[in-house]
Amino acid sequence: MTFDLDPIFKGRDFISIHDYTKEEIAYLLDLASKIKAIQKSGQPYPVLEGKTMGMIFQKPSTRTRVSFEVGMYQLGGYPLFLSPNDLQIGRGESVKDTALTLSRFLNGIMIRTFSHDEVLELAHYATIPVINGLTDLLHPCQVMGDMMTILEHKKTLEGIKLAFVGDGNNMAHSLLFGGAKTGMNVVIACPSGFEPDPEIMALAKEDAQETGARLWVVTDPEEALHDADVIYTDVWSSMGQEKESAEKEKRFASYQINQKNLALAKPEAIVMHCLPAKRGREITDEVIDGPQSVVFDEAENRLHAQKAIMAVVMQ
Ligand code: CP
Ligand code: NVA
Repeated sequence: MTFDLDPIFKGRDFISIHDYTKEEIAYLLDLASKIKAIQKSGQPYPVLEGKTMGMIFQKPSTRTRVSFEVGMYQLGGYPLFLSPNDLQIGRGESVKDTALTLSRFLNGIMIRTFSHDEVLELAHYATIPVINGLTDLLHPCQVMGDMMTILEHKKTLEGIKLAFVGDGNNMAHSLLFGGAKTGMNVVIACPSGFEPDPEIMALAKEDAQETGARLWVVTDPEEALHDADVIYTDVWSSMGQEKESAEKEKRFASYQINQKNLALAKPEAIVMHCLPAKRGREITDEVIDGPQSVVFDEAENRLHAQKAIMAVVMQ
């Protein structure tokens, strides 16, 4: 199967779902499912033959590292894993000089780091596409895989209700943008003081005017779960917040997804988690291993969704 890649994406960064139009997000989701079908049929799809992508990781990763590395290889390209222990950036070389240097060798950069501003700075100076593999603020590639997964199970995103129960974190933010661009209604249930960033919420609500998506925040997890089509949860303490975890466990105790509150959602609701999970905390074993859980479909779809992104921006 061959098809032309839309040149509109060529050379662009993928830092936030907010930066793309609703049509572009729909195109990427459709391309991801085509690329998945090609992969499943055993056909090669070497559209990035001869291209290289550096992957900078300032935080640990299982899924992001493996899916980007394998994805780049499957597209015919070559991925380079760049740890901060090996890069001069770890010894204080500037983001600017790193961006300018890497742009002379590579066709793209994927970065996972703490500060979102660091990714914006890298993208500003780099002359090649920069892909966000997670910051403290956003995790857009995860949500592209997630929306692909919801589409596979629910056939549509428009008008469905996704209940995110937990911390108003990077996942909550990217899910709000994802909902806004696709018409999926997203409710975030979190303890007061742990709401999503108001600036992100405001931007997402602006985006949502075009699709009619409803985006809102509640403190009562039961209210959010009521009639949900998709239940989403994530760790209560994200990478870099380990010191706060004991305190957060107390604040978030009633935000656990378990067999009892799962019953508040629609009977056919699917349960999602970006992983890694803290089993027994934000989600019970019974639910994550239960028949409604699609967490490993989500993990797999990272590969296909990111292949679509890499293919178009580095074409
Ligand atoms: N979901 C996700 O990004 O997982 P990793 O931290 O393992 O990459
Ligand atoms: N919110 C989590 C997501 C991990 C994929 C974190 O940032 O650690």
